[in-house]
Amino acid sequence: MDNRQLKESKKSPEARVRSFYEIIDRMRGTDYYTELLGYESLHGNYGYWAPGCSDQDAACEAMAEEVGERAGITEGDRVLDAGFGYGGPAIHWARTRKPERIVGLNITPSQIRVAREHVTELELDKVIELRQASATSLPFEDGSFDRVVALEASVHFHTRQTFFEEAFRVLRPGGTLTTTDPVPREVPLPGGGGVTARLDDWRRKRVIPDANWYPRRVYAERLQQARFVDVEVRDVTDKVLEPNAAFVRERCATLLGDPRFTSFKHRSGIKVHLKLTASRLATRGYVLATAEKPAG
Ligand SMILES: C[S@@+](CC[C@H](N)C(=O)[O-])C[C@H]1O[C@@H](n2cnc3c(N)ncnc32)[C@H](O)[C@@H]1O
Repeated sequence: MDNRQLKESKKSPEARVRSFYEIIDRMRGTDYYTELLGYESLHGNYGYWAPGCSDQDAACEAMAEEVGERAGITEGDRVLDAGFGYGGPAIHWARTRKPERIVGLNITPSQIRVAREHVTELELDKVIELRQASATSLPFEDGSFDRVVALEASVHFHTRQTFFEEAFRVLRPGGTLTTTDPVPREVPLPGGGGVTARLDDWRRKRVIPDANWYPRRVYAERLQQARFVDVEVRDVTDKVLEPNAAFVRERCATLLGDPRFTSFKHRSGIKVHLKLTASRLATRGYVLATAEKPAG
């Protein structure tokens, strides 16, 4: 373990996640980062590559649409968005589904600042309220929400199970929880290991607690343990991680030939990004889960 790894390992799990997103925030806005990851919007997930999506932002917009549809967010709903990022999905739901209120929670101050600025600029303050708080200790009365959503966020929570229990508490009877998350694949890698796999594993452990690292089958069991019914955990790897990896391969090939990014730092960054994307695809799946709090 080097000094940086040692320093990181001493932080609390939430502090590690926060510093991870603060670092990404500092890179945001640079040409290199925008070109490498393909994000220009206020979304920050792998995207749901519906037919017709040819770039990362369009796939993220489609992800918000798919999650909003699965969650059944509709006019008049009170929605909790746990881990709202820069607010892209919440803004999408406010515009397209007309809920009465969306309360967003996030632990990363720099993201909250950017998201609040945009919400105000778009005159959505009356619908969207953004707070700094953790999804594992929800500052709300029992039964306050019709929908709870965590889009590619609960994998970070310490722990996801605590969040499931909290989500159950703050939902009204008949309310729904909808989440998307990366999960480990159940099939071990033939030959496994290697430097990239170890780096990928170290990065994973930095921001994903071991307690959350279980496969799709167990994900459904954990929702049931939290007393949810009508639990469905769909494998959407082919709509999310597979097309995202294809997009990354294409983009990196273009960037490796781009005269703006010929420095050693840029080229090695592109190559690491490519390798980690391949390793992620080999070892992870992606789920979209829906569950209901019993009505009676
Ligand atoms: C991959 S991003 C997804 C952002 C957003 N849902 C989207 O799709 O654009 C994960 C988000 O979860 C937030 N997060 C991580 N741990 C959290 C916690 N314990 N409570 C609330 N938010 C958290 C991070 O700060 C980040 O905004």
